[in-house]
Amino acid sequence: MTAYLKLDHIDKSFARGGSTTDVLREVSLDIAKGEYISVIGHSGCGKSTLLNIVAGLTPATHGGVILEGAEVNSPGPDRAVVFQNHSLLPWLSVYDNVRLAVDKVFSGVKSRAERHDWCLHNLDLVQMGHARDKRPSEISGGMKQRVGIARALAMQPKVLLLDEPFGALDALTRAHLQDSVMQIHASLGNTVIMITHDVDEAVLLSDRIVMMTNGPAAHIGDVLDVPMPRPRRRLELVTDPAYLKCREAVLKFLYERHRFVEAA
Ligand SMILES: Nc1ncnc2c1ncn2[C@@H]1O[C@H](COP(=O)(O)OP(=O)(O)OP(=O)(O)O)[C@@H](O)[C@H]1O
Ligand SMILES: [Mg+2]
Repeated sequence: MTAYLKLDHIDKSFARGGSTTDVLREVSLDIAKGEYISVIGHSGCGKSTLLNIVAGLTPATHGGVILEGAEVNSPGPDRAVVFQNHSLLPWLSVYDNVRLAVDKVFSGVKSRAERHDWCLHNLDLVQMGHARDKRPSEISGGMKQRVGIARALAMQPKVLLLDEPFGALDALTRAHLQDSVMQIHASLGNTVIMITHDVDEAVLLSDRIVMMTNGPAAHIGDVLDVPMPRPRRRLELVTDPAYLKCREAVLKFLYERHRFVEAA
């Protein structure tokens, strides 16, 4: 079977002055269509670098990314990114932030009316239709993050790339947004790569959890299958033995096998 999305022997080094830092070494992973993958690992190990390589924002030093059989090495609407810090344009309304992306991707394909309806549809998906005329400064952090997700979804990407999308949010807002993303994933079947530091979030949302070793020259230390059936309900999972087992495996990886070593 050929993978839908293939990370193929990715190495990444950054050169500065006369010295080179090896950040990633031999990162390979086959991802199936519709799979929800989380990437977890200590700060600085190279998770964002890996996501940026998949997004086409950073070139790999060796190896590469293959999506549906074709190599991707520049940004494209088939791979939408949601960053941790909300990246909305502050001078545009919520609606116009989404509309800008929709116009860019669909201007030759959908009519004006269709594009309008499509923006509203995606804002409704994240329950932000009511705030369509507000500016980013007038809405909360969680709401901004919802709009960022709506904007990414509206591009109908083959792959959704999430870099700690809920990292800056309080626990309750975070839980609401995780539930929304689970529902969206269930109904649309997107292929997702999500970086997170949160073990519970990784176990709740993922089909597989990719655990990175510490850098330099970080690689995939282990990949954990998360077997609980969907739909998953967070309160029921708290006592589910399969959930607890996954949680333990990730915690052990992070805190026993690959303890965080603060750079000197
Ligand atoms: N443009 C760059 N030039 C030089 N070094 C870089 C560059 N981008 C990242 N690095 C280095 O690569 C390493 C990995 O960075 P990266 O941002 O991918 O880590 P991360 O795993 O996402 O960390 P965090 O969890 O803190 O977000 C770090 O040591 C960082 O200093
Ligand atoms: Mg990062």
